[in-house]
Order: sequence, then structure tokens, then C-alpha cells
Amino acid sequence: MPAILAIESSCDETSAAVCVDGAILSNVIANQTIHEAYGGVVPELASRVHQQNIVPAVQQALFNAKVSKNDIDAVAFTRGPGLLGSLLVGVSFAKAFALARHIPLIEVNHMQAHILAHFIAKKKPAFPFICLTVSGGHTQIVLVKDYFDMEIIGQTLDDAAGEAMDKTSKILGLPYPGGPLIDKNARNGNPDAYQFPEPQIPGFDFSFSGLKTSILYFIRDNVAANPNFIQEHMNDICASVEKRIATILLNKLKRAAQQYGIKHVALAGGVSANTGLRNLLQQMGEQNGWEVFIPKFEYCTDNAAMIAIAGYHKYLKGEFIGQDVAPLARMPF
Ligand code: KG4
Ligand code: ZN
Repeated sequence: MPAILAIESSCDETSAAVCVDGAILSNVIANQTIHEAYGGVVPELASRVHQQNIVPAVQQALFNAKVSKNDIDAVAFTRGPGLLGSLLVGVSFAKAFALARHIPLIEVNHMQAHILAHFIAKKKPAFPFICLTVSGGHTQIVLVKDYFDMEIIGQTLDDAAGEAMDKTSKILGLPYPGGPLIDKNARNGNPDAYQFPEPQIPGFDFSFSGLKTSILYFIRDNVAANPNFIQEHMNDICASVEKRIATILLNKLKRAAQQYGIKHVALAGGVSANTGLRNLLQQMGEQNGWEVFIPKFEYCTDNAAMIAIAGYHKYLKGEFIGQDVAPLARMPF
């Protein structure tokens, strides 16, 4: 019955979770609103706010789980990838907690954890499955052969899908993070109102920088002709952009599933909270006879529950790391 305390601090969410014997008992997420005014995450500010939030988040996670710190058997933490200053806060806290309690440390790769969030729910994908991981910093198609045996078969050559959402929202004058606002506006818009190009990239890789430029020029030209263009057509623009990003992602995912003969297909990462993407994937799954796995909303964006479940499976394998561990801004699988 291992009790694991998990810490996530890779970007702008400070999160702590408690997992006992593979069951998530708490998942506390402290969001940072300070970045809204800057149109993106300011790394220096993010690490300072993590510093303020980390102890209260852990205390709340232990309280919600009704688990004493004395009963924790191991500490799992995000080692990378992420912002170095943000990671340092979580890594340092995890090390100090483990040192004080004489318990082992478990390092977790943030991108693997997004995928392993599917093992929190009762209905779990079977290995091997394919996962489309779409976040603010990454866009990957991953062949998941086992818990920690994952192969990236496609990824973005430039911007991530979340970045494309966030940059579009910035062009539209919406605050950061823009993804959820594009989602909200898109629900009342026509996804076929405007056509944006689909990049022609070979294999399973992606590119979103050309799309971003075409959106920028489209808005610039239309605003030149009608200064109220954005306000008058906000919902249709958001719906059309959202649909194009979703179809770019899903067309590649479909080809990957076909080529690898995979029928269990999963979605992970912050952009998996997107309503249009979730609905289109469900439809594609029905058309292709796939079993589709979409995380609960609280496990889409950054959270420590996914770190806890990944840590639990490493605990079972006895995979621990020493006190000399340091965070990694880039961390391959
Ligand atoms: O996984 P995540 O929380 O952090 C990273 O590891 O990057 O992903 C954050 C990204 C942001 O780009 C945010 O705009 C996007 O996920 N996002 C969404 C939605 N919720 C979050 N994008 C579209 N629709 C949403 N509902
Ligand atoms: Zn993430």
C-alpha cells in the first residue's frame, strides 16, 4: 500500500497530489494568474510564485487525502521538461521532504506523466496504444509500448499546438492563456466560416508556424477593411482556427494508428481539454472502430495526480533516484 506524495511545478501551475496504492486521494492545483497581464508565462515570476505556493499546496493535498506526512512512503516529482526556475522549486522541495523523512525519491518525465494520466481512470488503454500529446510546449504522437517504454513517432518542427492556440488568441486581443477562451468562443461559432491552410509536412511531424502567419495576415487584411472585424466575427474565427488545428492533429493521428495497426487511441496534455478536438476525436474513433481515451478535464492541464500515478508505477519497479538529482529543462523519454 505505498503512499506517494507527488509534486508538479514545470510551468505555471503549482500542484501536489497524494496517491495510495494507485488511487488518487487528492490533487491540489494552484494556478498563477500573474502571467495574464504579460500575454505569456514569465519564467522569473513563475518560479517566485511556486516558492510561495508549494508548501500550502502540499499541506492541502495531505489534508484533503487525510494522510499524515509521516505515512508518505516516497516523493515523486517532475524532473523535466519545463522551465528551469520553476522545476527547481518542486525538485528542491521534493528532495528536502524525502531527506527529512528518510524516504526515496522518484523522478518523473512530465510528458510521460501526461500520457500515464490515463492509468488513473478505471478504464485504461491496453499496450501498445497511440497517444497524441498536445500541450503548451509539446505536440507529439507517441507509440506507448509499456508504462515507461514510449517512442515519439511524430512531433512539431516549430510551435506546439497549444502555442498556436495561445498565439491566435493574442492576435485576437484575448488574454493568456488563450486556449480555453478560443474553446469557449468556438462553441458559438461556425467552424467552416473561414478556411486556413493545412501544412504539408512529411511523416507524422507537425508544423504550426505557417498557420500562425496565415492567421496573422488574415486578421491584418480583414481589420484593414473593417476595423470591427474581430469583434463582429470572434466566434467564427475561433471556431475555424480550432477546427483547423484539430484536423491537422487528427489527420496525422489517424495515419499513425493505421500504419501501426493500433485500435486504442488516447489524447493527453493541456490542449486535450479542447471541446472541438475531443468531439472530433470521438467521431474519428467511431468511424475507425477505435477505443478512444480522453482524460477527465482536471487531468488534461498540468497536475500532480499524473505525476503521482507515474511515480506509483516506478515505485512498483523500485526505480528511485539519488539526492544529487537536478532538474532538466529538456528531458528525453
Ligand atoms: O499541458 P499544459 O497544461 O502545460 C504544458 O505542459 O504546456 O498545456 C497548456 C496549454 C496552453 O497552451 C493552453 O492554452 C492549452 O493547453 N489549453 C487549451 C485548453 N485548455 C488549455 N487549448 C485549447 N482548448 C482548451 N480548452
Ligand atoms: Zn503539461
